[in-house]
Amino acid sequence: MGSTLTNSGSWKSLQAHYGTIKNLHLKELFEKSTDRGERFTVENVGIYFDYSKHRITEETLDLLFQLAKERGLEAKREAMFSGEKINTTENRAVLHTALRAPEGSTIMVDGHNVVPEVHAVLNKMADFSTKIKSGKWKGHTGKRIKNIVNIGIGGSDLGPVMAYEALKHFSQRDLSFKFVSNVDGNDFAEAVQGLLAEETLFIISSKTFTTLETMANAQTARSWALEYLKDPEAIAKHFVAVSTNEKEVSKFGIDPNNMFGFWDWVGGRYSMSGAIGLSTMIAIGPEHYHAMLNGLHQMDEHFRTAPLAQNISVIMGLLGLWYNNFFGAQTQAVFPYDKFLHRFPAYLQQLTMESNGKGVTLGGEKTDYETGAVYWGEPGTNGQHSFYQLIHQGTKIIPSDFIGFKESLNHLPPHQDYLIANMIAQGEALAFGKTLDEVKAEGIPDVLAPHKVFGGNRPSSTFFLDRLSPENLGKLVAMYEHSVFVQGAIWDINPFDQMGVELGKVLAQNIIPELQQKDSPIHHDSSTNALIKLYRG
Ligand code: F6P
Repeated sequence: MGSTLTNSGSWKSLQAHYGTIKNLHLKELFEKSTDRGERFTVENVGIYFDYSKHRITEETLDLLFQLAKERGLEAKREAMFSGEKINTTENRAVLHTALRAPEGSTIMVDGHNVVPEVHAVLNKMADFSTKIKSGKWKGHTGKRIKNIVNIGIGGSDLGPVMAYEALKHFSQRDLSFKFVSNVDGNDFAEAVQGLLAEETLFIISSKTFTTLETMANAQTARSWALEYLKDPEAIAKHFVAVSTNEKEVSKFGIDPNNMFGFWDWVGGRYSMSGAIGLSTMIAIGPEHYHAMLNGLHQMDEHFRTAPLAQNISVIMGLLGLWYNNFFGAQTQAVFPYDKFLHRFPAYLQQLTMESNGKGVTLGGEKTDYETGAVYWGEPGTNGQHSFYQLIHQGTKIIPSDFIGFKESLNHLPPHQDYLIANMIAQGEALAFGKTLDEVKAEGIPDVLAPHKVFGGNRPSSTFFLDRLSPENLGKLVAMYEHSVFVQGAIWDINPFDQMGVELGKVLAQNIIPELQQKDSPIHHDSSTNALIKLYRG
């Protein structure tokens, strides 16, 4: 019995190999091979990826690459890039890579080339962004737009807000950007605090244009705008939509001419490089936006063409799987040593966990192995002063990604040296720790010494780039996107649907009228009934 994965030769070899390696210490590995820190690295498309501080040997890597081959990773990768309908549960192609394909290239979906449509939307976005920037686009009362409010949730929020925050340095500072996602009315109320409706543009971002939170916020935004602007004609100047659903956009009252489209072959969490990035483009301008697309595309090409052993996303994905499936690691941490990337871990949470949080194979069989890890993180150095303690001395193994930039966007010596010294030091401390003998040699009393021991042998990757430019942000995003793909391909799951979010939505729709009609009968379990009664008062 068992799945094809756990029955495969390479899986069994990895299992046996794990037995021989699990007690090997990174210290030993580095002592044995003094150039390990150079050998276990890849430098490509402007990313230096150091994976030497992982609990692996050459043999581990060979076995992992063998597993990837045995699971048909290369063919699956090509199937994605060439527009095959690999999202089988929804019968859709998976072509976020087409959103950043250069003009003139050809990517066929259902018999037609989608690249010209992609560029038509990008041009329309550029035209609109330029009009907002120059003040040519005027609000209903003739004033220029000063505030952009993106209303969207999940992939229609996390990408835009992450990219806006990450690239703020390149943004037009006389425009303000707000992001409303939560159905909690406080989110909307706070976002529009102090804004004038006549200077405010709402971008209603929703792939489906049916999402409860976004529709509720969009309706509230319309009421808020009309309260000041009075005239329903004002909507045309203050509301634009980003969606795949023209019918619903028109129904809402937004002129389809003011709609920026995308396609069902772009998953929500993979959509930030298309029209969902409209707020990003307005903020940083078309030129920087295209630089970001170029970075994404460079990484797409790297992933598509680099041999497995030199392929950044492949190695990342396999290392994640190694800890997840053999060491039993439950989580994966991501620590950007750059404050501008403070929403990057949140963005990655949707990307990784909505994608690979699946428990059945493409064929519908229950997996007999672990799938997606819990992703989490915070920028360094802040995390060092809160939860890093557990990573250093706790009982759990938490593979960690450190992301750093050689150059800061703000030249304020000595901050950058302090920042990067801390990042490098964390990887060093995690890997090599401090032994009891070393602690005692410092004259620490015996009673305290065990508390000061760092076991080490805690794995981490370090990614170094030159600076946090739009192009490099694009590379980082695509790098993680493809590592998710690698794992999904090996686990034989579908990283491109998200059926697990449905049940809660349906149940909420049942409960809404039960909260509003206080006398209606309720037939849930005793806990749910009690909570509803408590709220009804
Ligand atoms: O509920 C999950 C989800 O479908 C995400 O996958 C998606 O990014 C988000 O909701 C928002 O969806 P939409 O863009 O259609 O409003």
